[in-house]
Amino acid sequence: MDIYRAMENRHSNYSIGGGSLMSDTEIENILKRVINSAPSAFNSQSSRTILLLGESHIAFWKIVMDTLRRKVPADKFQTTKMKIDSFAVGYGTVLYYEDMDIVKNMQEKFPSYSDNFPVWSQQSSGMLQFAVWIAFASEGFGASLQHYNPIIDEETAEKFDVPKNWKLIAQMPFGESTGTPKIAVHDPIEEHFFVKY
Ligand SMILES: Cc1cc2nc3c(=O)[nH]c(=O)nc-3n(C[C@H](O)[C@H](O)[C@H](O)COP(=O)(O)O)c2cc1C
Repeated sequence: MDIYRAMENRHSNYSIGGGSLMSDTEIENILKRVINSAPSAFNSQSSRTILLLGESHIAFWKIVMDTLRRKVPADKFQTTKMKIDSFAVGYGTVLYYEDMDIVKNMQEKFPSYSDNFPVWSQQSSGMLQFAVWIAFASEGFGASLQHYNPIIDEETAEKFDVPKNWKLIAQMPFGESTGTPKIAVHDPIEEHFFVKY
């Protein structure tokens, strides 16, 4: 698939299943290639990515479920539960972290850019997330981007031995696509893109 087709083929896909499209090693290799090709400010390489498969994937969504059960009013919880279940039935989850020690070191090393590094760290993570999302979509996986952080951070870190200096940025449940994703409507391109001579 060419790069444009691959990008156009990426959607928020909430209909995912637990069947495998390839071996776990192949999924790992996709992530390794994408991580190794993603840019970062000053090549700081602050991203940290955890691939949750099998029991870890299930355990993660149980943490999300239990956390939200304590926060969401009982009469509204059924909707929340259905949503979380729809991620848990997928094949795996990618957790996107940023190593805040690296961000801090960069701030100390380049004080004149101090305020920029936390912003660039977020931007770098976004680029990585987008690249993984495109790679997954081009391989036939459905995926979506979720943000249950920060309320799940502590328990998740404890469960998966995540270093204290890693900040959870996003979660990407993925799996075989079991439905056609809704195509997001985009405003006219003229509102977003301008050419000046
Ligand atoms: C920074 C960012 C945060 C997002 N957060 C969430 C989220 O927490 N939950 C979710 O279901 N989708 C989330 N999305 C997905 C958007 O809702 C989605 O990309 C948008 O509606 C366009 O649809 P598409 O992904 O199918 O193109 C997020 C997207 C971005 C770029």
